[in-house]
Amino acid sequence: MTSEVRVRTRIWPKNGRKFILVANSKGGSGKSTLATNLAAAYARLGFATSLVDCDQQRSSLAWMEMRPPMAPPITAVSGCAEVGVPQLDWALRVSPDTSRVIVDSPVAMRDQRLYDTLQKFDDILVPVLPSAVDIRATTEFLKEVYISPGFRTSNKRLFVIGNRVDKRNKYFHQLSRFLKRMGSHEVMTLPDSYVFLRCADEGIGVADLNDSARYEEARISMLKIINAIETKV
Ligand SMILES: Nc1ncnc2c1ncn2[C@@H]1O[C@H](COP(=O)(O)OP(=O)(O)OP(=O)(O)O)[C@@H](O)[C@H]1O
Ligand SMILES: [Mg+2]
Repeated sequence: MTSEVRVRTRIWPKNGRKFILVANSKGGSGKSTLATNLAAAYARLGFATSLVDCDQQRSSLAWMEMRPPMAPPITAVSGCAEVGVPQLDWALRVSPDTSRVIVDSPVAMRDQRLYDTLQKFDDILVPVLPSAVDIRATTEFLKEVYISPGFRTSNKRLFVIGNRVDKRNKYFHQLSRFLKRMGSHEVMTLPDSYVFLRCADEGIGVADLNDSARYEEARISMLKIINAIETKV
């Protein structure tokens, strides 16, 4: 599996530009974890990467401030106005040389704000935790996404990603059924792992860690997500 993922990464074109939104109106589902790890993985693969933080909490910007100088570069862009309303002009401030723009979004982004936001993106990633409450809240969020004109009128792709997955958790099966119903032919997940806490603390992503045997599952999970985004349909 590892070599299969590695082989495919070599042929991904790095030119062209993609806007990738990480969103869920449910708090704590893993938006910032997924956005920062995705940015780190893209940067490690050689893509010119920008990470836009549209959340007033500034989790992704704080992560960027801790990023070690030797780590592959990522450009930080603030998507938040002083009063906490997302600045809709952040796209203008992303350098034209950037090929992958990853946006971490605030909790409870709904209705008009969600509709306006969706129009800008090529791919939408929705992390969901394995719990009945989270699955219910995410179902409501996905309904809003699907009916949004910004989503329906163009060729966008949506990936629902199970986060903090532990196969021993009895809600894992409920989550798997949910992800399959969402049309994912390949169920994508991130494991529940201490490594994500460490990465959040050190300004790195699992892709930046050398200790690959120990963190193999987390690293491969991230690459599978990139593989799905980069694979043409
Ligand atoms: N796969 C994981 N394994 C272990 N811990 C995780 C994982 N994903 C997220 N966490 C932890 O869960 C907490 C919430 O994650 P995160 O901040 O990414 O969620 P969020 O959706 O961005 O939250 P908010 O809605 O507040 O912006 C953090 O402490 C994070 O480190
Ligand atoms: Mg967050």
